[in-house]
Amino acid sequence: MYSEKVTKYFENPINMGYMENASSTGIIENEVCSDIIKIYLKINKDIIIDAKFEAKGCPPIIASCCVVTEAIKDMNIEQIIHIDGTFIIKELDGLPKEKEHCAELVQKTLYRAIHNYKNKKIRS
Ligand code: FES
Repeated sequence: MYSEKVTKYFENPINMGYMENASSTGIIENEVCSDIIKIYLKINKDIIIDAKFEAKGCPPIIASCCVVTEAIKDMNIEQIIHIDGTFIIKELDGLPKEKEHCAELVQKTLYRAIHNYKNKKIRS
């Protein structure tokens, strides 16, 4: 049902865990399935220098979080526009149609974290 990549990331997730002193976090809960995603970012001068996540969810959620947190390291926050559902699904060698929304949910969580960072910057 899932690609080898999804299974590999689900069994051995990378970048999983709490981040102390994160510059920003994004949290999203899917009310339908109760999956929860939290993405932590460490940002210096608009460059994402580290990213981690905590999640309670199915294999596509965990695998998508691994892909996203790895792909955005060293990226300028304005470049995250390239990280969308299509990118994540491609990096995972595909997801079943009925699970594609999981990748989009992880993307939304990332965008929320960036949005929160920008808001914090404006207020400081
Ligand atoms: Fe819960 Fe996809 S199954 S977000």
